[in-house]
Amino acid sequence: MTLIITKEQKEQISRTFSQYAEGYDMTDPKIRLKAAHTYRVAALAQQIAETADPEYSGMAWLCGMLHDIGRFEQVRRYHTFIDAESVNHAEFGADLLFRDHLIDFFHPTLSDSDLRLLETSIRCHNMYQLPEGLSDLETRSCQILRDADKIDILRVICDTPLEDIYGVSTEALRTAPVSEAVKKCFYERTSVLRSLKRTPMDHLVGHICLIFDLAYPISREIIAEQGYLNTLLSYSSDNPDTRAWFRYMRSDIGPYKVLS
Ligand SMILES: [Fe+2]
Repeated sequence: MTLIITKEQKEQISRTFSQYAEGYDMTDPKIRLKAAHTYRVAALAQQIAETADPEYSGMAWLCGMLHDIGRFEQVRRYHTFIDAESVNHAEFGADLLFRDHLIDFFHPTLSDSDLRLLETSIRCHNMYQLPEGLSDLETRSCQILRDADKIDILRVICDTPLEDIYGVSTEALRTAPVSEAVKKCFYERTSVLRSLKRTPMDHLVGHICLIFDLAYPISREIIAEQGYLNTLLSYSSDNPDTRAWFRYMRSDIGPYKVLS
């Protein structure tokens, strides 16, 4: 059975989410950022699903609305989004929803199979790779959510000073090199493992490499349309080697080649 979420239910879930977020410190930019990210990921997931798998769009939207629910409590308790220094926010959020029954406030009448699908999608949304053994439906659900999340992560990176995102000074940012191991990921068209990122520019190249993980052509189209990839590729470093590397990446992928 496909989950249908009516317009009224969506409004109710959005209201519940907004009340939930307002229970946290909305003067904290981290909390505001996650609230805005949530609405955008939900809309993007629905948009991707409407093209890729229209019957699934209600569940895609719900996955988007709840995927980062753990971020709020993570920030309240640990004052950071860095999972390695606090908790795995995907697991933490799924535990709050499905073990502590927070899900009942958002949608109290989901079937067991919808609950399982939602839980799997949320638990897997921040994994480097999806685990083996997922069903086709679980794989699609995870891929749609992960694509939507990545698209909006690129927007956040473009709209937020990189110094704030990577927690470094302007000088450190502008002079940083790109590590060979990270360049190799770009050559091989793969995303970059966290453990390989050593410099602020490794993080930026890592964010650019998120595009290689997108599962759906519509996701690549949305990214090209929004122009965020172009903005990231246009970064102008004071480090001559980094500048040359960004020139190379621009010529190698460019906004149009991404679509092919
Ligand atoms: Fe997340």
